[in-house]
Amino acid sequence: MQTQDNKKPLDILGVLMEHIPDNVLLEPIEYIFADHCRQRDLCNALQELAVRSASTVIGPQPAQVILSCLKHDLPLHIEDEEKDLFPLLLKRAEPQDKIEDIIRLLGSEHQRDRELVNEVTIGLKEIAAGQPLSEPSAFRTAAEVLASSHMSHMNWENAVVLELARRRLGADDQQAMAQNMAARRGIKLPID
Ligand SMILES: [Fe+2]
Ligand SMILES: [Fe+2]
Repeated sequence: MQTQDNKKPLDILGVLMEHIPDNVLLEPIEYIFADHCRQRDLCNALQELAVRSASTVIGPQPAQVILSCLKHDLPLHIEDEEKDLFPLLLKRAEPQDKIEDIIRLLGSEHQRDRELVNEVTIGLKEIAAGQPLSEPSAFRTAAEVLASSHMSHMNWENAVVLELARRRLGADDQQAMAQNMAARRGIKLPID
């Protein structure tokens, strides 16, 4: 039998509800890194919510915040990488960087993430609507797999892709990235 969740909302939610300041877009590689920091909190919150959902009735707010990040912020981030960061890096990489295979693998992991997000969304919408989970164990499994595989994905991006991007992308590349990423979010940046 489930009990009422008397604990305060997931601690991590405060961070998720803060948006990255728009002017960080002027440093687009660092914006992507900052997004990864938020996504690490998102993965932790999702894991904690999945664990708690096994024994307690969760209030709607954590699920609503996590849903918004998964359905709004994450797709924008994946577009930043697939439409801007990865193509520019492939263009500027040196043969010795051997980045093609890694970028191909990361792209296929994005597709896996999209599928897992669709699975997790079913349970999150039920929790957000105050309903019991229709498939609790499927929800917990999908949430666990999404959180752990996305953490590993980000570790590779931080350690290899962003590191290389800082060395290979010039000022013009980064300005083009910044403009595209800002336009994707409906933000006008103070650059020509
Ligand atoms: Fe990615
Ligand atoms: Fe990423």
